Amino acid sequence: MIDTHCHILSGMDDGAVNADISMLMAQMAAADGITRIIATPHIQNNYPSAENIQNATRELNHRLHHWGLPITIVPGAEVSMTMDLDTMMTYTINHTPYILIEFPHSHIPGNSKDIFFQLKIRGYHPIIAHPERHPDIIRQPKILFDLHEQDVLVQITADSLIGRFGPAPQKCAEYLLKKNVVDIIASDAHSVNDRCPVLSKGIRAAAKIIGREKAFALVTKNPLAVIRGDSLSDCAHA
Ligand SMILES: [Fe+2]
Repeated sequence: MIDTHCHILSGMDDGAVNADISMLMAQMAAADGITRIIATPHIQNNYPSAENIQNATRELNHRLHHWGLPITIVPGAEVSMTMDLDTMMTYTINHTPYILIEFPHSHIPGNSKDIFFQLKIRGYHPIIAHPERHPDIIRQPKILFDLHEQDVLVQITADSLIGRFGPAPQKCAEYLLKKNVVDIIASDAHSVNDRCPVLSKGIRAAAKIIGREKAFALVTKNPLAVIRGDSLSDCAHA
């Protein structure tokens, strides 16, 4: 499996608090059957540069290799929708056209549709992080359906499907799966105690709704296309 959303790099944001926790997170992910992780530090007002992320990723890969852990870290980011367009385009996943974007928790900016459009016409593929946890989308999922219609991709959090964020995000995640608007499932892990790098439990829950094969594509086939910069069109909207 490939985890496309994980705060595993230490000293960048509210994720891994030190290098040892990064290693423990990698160990836990490997035990869950994850072979690759996209490191996605928050890009907000006080943010690491893309170069910092790449260097930290390289360093962590060296350590993982040294300790014989069968897992590879890929550089990425989780960019806030409040950043300007030029900044967003700096933080792509693994130098591909894919960009992971999160809405501010308080609201969905009125110009979101336009920002996604601007990214699309420049050849980028935006992915929305954890919409099922956003109060506006829980209230009005049609906002997300409209964006998905415009080929904006949707990534939900595995733990939402097991109720980690409460009944409303869980119900919303299940609804989005049923409506076939979910392209990727990821951990959005921050630590090893609470929000952990584990996908299998969420996938088991997803499999009960959309079947095992489709559920696994959301953590295997689709994330692989993202890492490679390939199109998801073969499977994303199937
Ligand atoms: Fe995140």
